[in-house]
Amino acid sequence: MLDQFNRKINYLRISVTDRCNLRCIYCMPEEGIKLMPDNEIISFEEIYDIVKKGAEKGITKVRLTGGEPLIRKGIVNLVKMISEIKGINDLSMTTNAVLLKDYAQSLYDAGLNRVNISLDTVSPERYREITRGGDINRVFAGIKAAKKAGLNPIKINCVIFKNNNNNDAKEVARFCKQNDLQIRFIHQMDLKQGEFSVVEGGEGGNCKNCNRIRLTANGEIRPCLFNDLSFKVKETGIDTAYYKALKEKPKYGSKSIGGSFYGIGG
Ligand code: 5AD
Ligand code: SF4
Repeated sequence: MLDQFNRKINYLRISVTDRCNLRCIYCMPEEGIKLMPDNEIISFEEIYDIVKKGAEKGITKVRLTGGEPLIRKGIVNLVKMISEIKGINDLSMTTNAVLLKDYAQSLYDAGLNRVNISLDTVSPERYREITRGGDINRVFAGIKAAKKAGLNPIKINCVIFKNNNNNDAKEVARFCKQNDLQIRFIHQMDLKQGEFSVVEGGEGGNCKNCNRIRLTANGEIRPCLFNDLSFKVKETGIDTAYYKALKEKPKYGSKSIGGSFYGIGG
C-alpha cells in the first residue's frame, strides 16, 4: 500500500484493549480514564479479518499494543491467529511486562517474534511512583521469561520525563547493556499540545518515512497518532476504511485533541 506521498505502508499497530493494569503518570490522569464501552471492543474474528485484508494489501508487520495487551482475555489465541496469516512476518507486542512471566512461553509458541517492554527506571520506589503502584520485580521476572522463551530482540521503551532531573534513563541504559537488551528513548509527550518527538533508537515520529497505520480497540483505522482522523471499519467496511486512511494519511503529524496513548498504544 502506498499513500499519497508515496510512503509504503506495511506496518499495522493494533490496540487490543484500552484497559491497563498500571496507571503511568504520563499516560493516564490520576482520576482515571473514560473507557471504551465493552460492546464496542472488536472481536478477535474482526481483528483477524482486518489483518488478513491488510496482509493482502501489503502489511507485513503487526504490533499488538494496548492499554496493556496481556490483560485482554485469550490474547495468546489472537497471536496464534495473526501469526498464521500469510504475509505477516514480523509479529511483536508492546507490554508493561507485569504479566509477561506467565505468558512469555505460550506467546512465543503461538508465533510472537519479539516484545517491547516499558521500563522508565530501575528503582523499585521510582517505578511504584511512575506507574502508581506497580511492582518492578514482576517486570524483571517478565524480562527473564521473555529471554528464556526466545523472544528476540527484547527492546526496552524508556520514557524520558519532561522535568528530567534524575538519572533514571541512564540507569535503565546501564541495565540494558548488562542484560543484553536494546533500548529506545521516548521523550514524554502531550498529544493534545501537539508535542511529538522522534523515538531515539526506533522509527516512531519520523513522518517522512512513516510506514504505519493503527487499529484501535473499537475498530477505527487511524492513519496518524498525531491527528484525529479515524475511519470506522464497522461503518464503511474494511476495504474502504483502509482506502480512506491511506488516502488521508497526513504528511506530518500535528496534534490529536482526542488522542491518548492508552487508547491507541503509542
Ligand atoms: N509520552 C511518551 N510516551 C508515552 N507512552 C505512553 N504515554 C506516553 C507519553 N505521554 C509510551 C511509552 C510506553 C508505551 C506503552 O507508550 O513509551 O512504554
Ligand atoms: Fe499502562 Fe503503558 Fe499507559 Fe503505563 S504507559 S498506564 S503501562 S498503557
